[in-house]
Amino acid sequence: MDRDQLVDLTRRALKLARDKTTDLAAGQHTVDARDYTSLERHLSDTALMLASPQLVGYVSELAEPGAYCTKTVMGRSVLLTRTSDGSVKAFDNVCLHRQSQLATGCGTAKRFTCPYHAWTYDNTGTLVGLPGREGFPGVTVKSDGLTELPATEFAGFLWIALEPGATLDVAAHLGPLAEELDSWGIGRWSPLGEKVLDVPINWKLAIDTFAENYHFATVHRDTFATIARSNCTVFDSYGPHHRLIFPLNGILDLDDVPEERWDPFRSMVVIYALFPNIVLSVTIANGELFRVYPGNEPGRSITVHQNSTPLDISDESVAAGAQAVFEYAHATVRDEDYRLVERLQANLESGARDHLVFGRNEPGLQHRHITWAQAIEEAVATAALSAT
Ligand code: FES
Ligand SMILES: [Fe+2]
Repeated sequence: MDRDQLVDLTRRALKLARDKTTDLAAGQHTVDARDYTSLERHLSDTALMLASPQLVGYVSELAEPGAYCTKTVMGRSVLLTRTSDGSVKAFDNVCLHRQSQLATGCGTAKRFTCPYHAWTYDNTGTLVGLPGREGFPGVTVKSDGLTELPATEFAGFLWIALEPGATLDVAAHLGPLAEELDSWGIGRWSPLGEKVLDVPINWKLAIDTFAENYHFATVHRDTFATIARSNCTVFDSYGPHHRLIFPLNGILDLDDVPEERWDPFRSMVVIYALFPNIVLSVTIANGELFRVYPGNEPGRSITVHQNSTPLDISDESVAAGAQAVFEYAHATVRDEDYRLVERLQANLESGARDHLVFGRNEPGLQHRHITWAQAIEEAVATAALSAT
């Protein structure tokens, strides 16, 4: 993001902080409690997810040709590689023989030997080794291979589609936000690993916790609220995506500083909500990524939390410091946000009340739910059309 844009956002944030207000939606909004609990909505959400481009990580996770990483997306294990020509490929991490997983974690390997019976594949997915070949007259070495999934790198991130042969047009998906996301460079910063939360909350409820800072003063009184303002957000939407600016407590100090001397990025956290299930949080020191997936029932979800750092983590003490920051952020989400909304999910499932209210001061929350509902309506309309 260029300085002019940062200064402009800081000006807007400073005005909100000074006026003790926040960007406001046109009105209150209500959603049905069953959006979080019904099997019907869960199936629609799952179908929506399967049809959407999937941001699965940072390009820095595949830094060099020969690098690989594995990802679990909607319960499906995916192997990503960077091949010798520099391109990114993705495959179902499923052996052609008896479906063992070929690889775990990440690293460097040009060949993947199945741990079960040693069938071997190269990093373009081609089967290159088949012990006891006479047992498999129906399998052809150098011709058969892993199931390939559409994959690309874009705006600093790794993207896949879960349908083999599907179109993966990430430029169209991100629209005008692509350049801005790329400009932060967080996808090229050093990755710090993945932490997984498998929790008894609907996936949308998990995402809701990132969509407003109205709760900071209560839920994060002793953590985030010590550094960031509550109920004070700059909101902008970009089609189905949106951006929130959470001003830090020190932003009011800028009142006494001429704009040309501002270091604006030190006064805010930038949060992106990417449709349908991605949250990115950008600060000067952290590029956090939350990938939130529906679980195997409406009341369960999986959050994969990643972080990247611009610091040089070849220095052990720097790496340890970056990991400590990551752990702190993760523990806050796990122990403050998710722990609280677990009990909220139980209330929703009890049927005690049939709806939830999103305030004018929660425009991000409103935007998420309105775009999800629209996408599901469109999918239903398209399905009805193709059935006639
Ligand atoms: S399952 Fe992979 S070689 Fe048998
Ligand atoms: Fe929170």
